[in-house]
Amino acid sequence: MRSTTMEQWLRRWDAQQERNIPDREERFRVVIDVVRAVTADGPARVVDLGCGPGSLSARLAAELPRAEMVGVDADPLLLGLGAANTGPRVRLVEADLADPGWPERTGLAGPWDAAVSSTALHWLHPDTLAALYRTLAERIRPGGVFVNADHLGLATPGLDGLAESVRKARTARVGTDQNEDWAEWWQSLLADEELAPLVDARSERAIAHDGDNGLTVADHARLLRTAGFTEAGPLWQFGDDHVLTAIR
Ligand SMILES: C[S@@+](CC[C@H](N)C(=O)[O-])C[C@H]1O[C@@H](n2cnc3c(N)ncnc32)[C@H](O)[C@@H]1O
Repeated sequence: MRSTTMEQWLRRWDAQQERNIPDREERFRVVIDVVRAVTADGPARVVDLGCGPGSLSARLAAELPRAEMVGVDADPLLLGLGAANTGPRVRLVEADLADPGWPERTGLAGPWDAAVSSTALHWLHPDTLAALYRTLAERIRPGGVFVNADHLGLATPGLDGLAESVRKARTARVGTDQNEDWAEWWQSLLADEELAPLVDARSERAIAHDGDNGLTVADHARLLRTAGFTEAGPLWQFGDDHVLTAIR
């Protein structure tokens, strides 16, 4: 596969993600800064949950040259884009995060210094997410962190509605509201004949996911503390867009 093709798909992925997350790069920046503060730029194992084509994994690997970076996702097509784009410093593994045995099955038993995630865990049912948080608390070393960048509800309909308004205003201000959207990106990707083997793998193996579990930022923090993290709360926020951080 020509690498320029894969680079273009990744560039288009990043642009379509920014359509709804105008501050995605700043959010990534904060995630990286938290991981850097905890690992002191030393050797570390960092796991990216729901890594997709590896946008965050690649940025972490570039910024933290001594870290071992592992991206986990259930979608072989997105992982295929990631494999062509992230380079040798990122190991990508296929696993369903809803399956409690995924760390052992993928050779990721732990300990980990950090787990990160971006726009991925809102698909998981609350019970599945609670189980995943327990899995993370068992694997992340004391003092290590879980850092989750995502749109997380603010708990009341009025504030959630206003968060949507300020997000729309922000995307219009920075111009990302004109970017290709999620559905258009997928439609074009699935029609690319060069990607046919990966598209076939996706139709055979990718798990179905849709919607949002509706959990608020406070719900996430409570689930994390119940799972065994000592502290949990947002370190960055714009509207309902958060970088929620939990310390083990
Ligand atoms: C919106 S994408 C975000 C990808 C990437 N983190 C980013 O910010 O560009 C959500 C990702 O979560 C993955 N995902 C959703 N549910 C999953 C599950 N149960 N197990 C593993 N990956 C999952 C999807 O395959 C997809 O790659």
